[in-house]
Amino acid sequence: MSLMAKQNKLQQANDYIKNNINKVDNTYRQKYHIMPQIGWMNDPNGFIYYKGEYHLFYQYHPYSAVWGPMHWAHTKSSDLINWSNLDVAIAPDENYDMSGCFSGSAIEKDGKMYIMYTGHQDPGGFENLRQVQCIAISEDGVNFEKYKNNPVIDTNQLPSDTIIQDFRDPKVFEKNGKYYSVIGSRYKDDCGQILLYSSSDLLNWKYEGVIARSNGQFAKMWECPDLFELNGKDVLIMSPQFLEPRGNEYWNRHSTSYMVGKLNYETCEFDIEKTCEIDYGFDFYAPQTLIDDKGRRIMIAWMQMWDRNFPTNDLNHNWAGCMTLPRELKLIDNNLYQMPVKELKNLRKDEVSYQNVNIKETKSLEGIKGQNLELELEVDMKDSKEFKMLLMKGNNQETVLKYNKDESLFIFDRSKNGKDLGGKEETLRTYRQVNVDLIDNKLKLNIFIDTISVEIFINDGIKTMSSTVYPDKESDNIEFITDKNASMNIKKWTINTK
Ligand code: FRU
Repeated sequence: MSLMAKQNKLQQANDYIKNNINKVDNTYRQKYHIMPQIGWMNDPNGFIYYKGEYHLFYQYHPYSAVWGPMHWAHTKSSDLINWSNLDVAIAPDENYDMSGCFSGSAIEKDGKMYIMYTGHQDPGGFENLRQVQCIAISEDGVNFEKYKNNPVIDTNQLPSDTIIQDFRDPKVFEKNGKYYSVIGSRYKDDCGQILLYSSSDLLNWKYEGVIARSNGQFAKMWECPDLFELNGKDVLIMSPQFLEPRGNEYWNRHSTSYMVGKLNYETCEFDIEKTCEIDYGFDFYAPQTLIDDKGRRIMIAWMQMWDRNFPTNDLNHNWAGCMTLPRELKLIDNNLYQMPVKELKNLRKDEVSYQNVNIKETKSLEGIKGQNLELELEVDMKDSKEFKMLLMKGNNQETVLKYNKDESLFIFDRSKNGKDLGGKEETLRTYRQVNVDLIDNKLKLNIFIDTISVEIFINDGIKTMSSTVYPDKESDNIEFITDKNASMNIKKWTINTK
């Protein structure tokens, strides 16, 4: 492609955004979550703390609210809560990434920001499809230049018996003075696997081995890996496609999973002690993490799910998709805890607080309502077996949270959320459930509601549920219901950064 044509692709995307942004319908816009200015977003990419600021890139198609040739959109923040949009960072303008700049990650080297991403080539016909790994470099964290010798990892560096069409989403990191990259892949007979590569300069890469592979029963393809150390253990997170449900886990068409154990970087043997779903809501995919200057491991994910209908697209609102809130990760007894980053507390406004409310007598509480807010509550269930909360209630709409003490089950039900959110799933699931034990008979919840999302952090974040919902603007009541007396402490804050 000529230099002109290249500049044109980036320029074209940035011009399109500027010239069409007024065509976005604001009805369902979020008030404090990252979302595209216009067009479609999916996976978080290149999440990095760089020169005192947090940068987040994401899979982006400006021209419509459906997936299309992928660009990397770019946003940054000094505090993880106020984000400002920058120009689109890269566009599919080379032969090696002609059908899309797919997911990848970022790292700092000698003061420069390197991004490593997948060049997607789809000239027609499955046999011609290729995915290769590429580098782009930025001196200032804003303008990127693709490396002249791309791709840096080609399909000839794949191990034998590996499908060359599915090789994507490099997550790059540094360990013991060496660079590593974990990449999603598919072994023959439809077994997802994660490959490890190493490099001394980010440009020349050596294949090290397979660190994890499905035994045939854990999904065909593993996308978007991330590998990091937490509390002395190695944690591998990834997004298995088409994973069959088991127990209460993996009820979405595509899932996310974490594996905890010890990885031997010499032999690539990963001694896995535990495998578990990351989030038990309907909309959580392709999470990615960074480590910041305070040593915090922070994760963010796409708060949507593939193959479902997107109301903002169906209604021609000209945008689709948003991210979860950034969450700090902790590993305690091999459980991956997630809590919203503490900076979010700075967004709290207009506190309303109640102590020792008897819920049996109370259905709603003055001042506890709304669609853009945070709730912190603790319910003492010593005498009761069931606690229910109705969020975004009104006009035959409600989103239900329920705890059943006999079964130790926390349930999220969006059957009356406002829209049918189905798509290609064989069974339209309207609720999800997760096992949660009470702590001294108490259920602790930290809940973030934004216009079209509910994120629930249960018992200090040992389990989370993240989902989209589409209530009318007027559906903003909150109600509490129990079978017997239950005492509750609750705080509510309004959040609205827009
Ligand atoms: C995951 C994913 C990645 C790919 C990207 C394309 O959601 O399928 O594997 O790189 O989306 O947009």
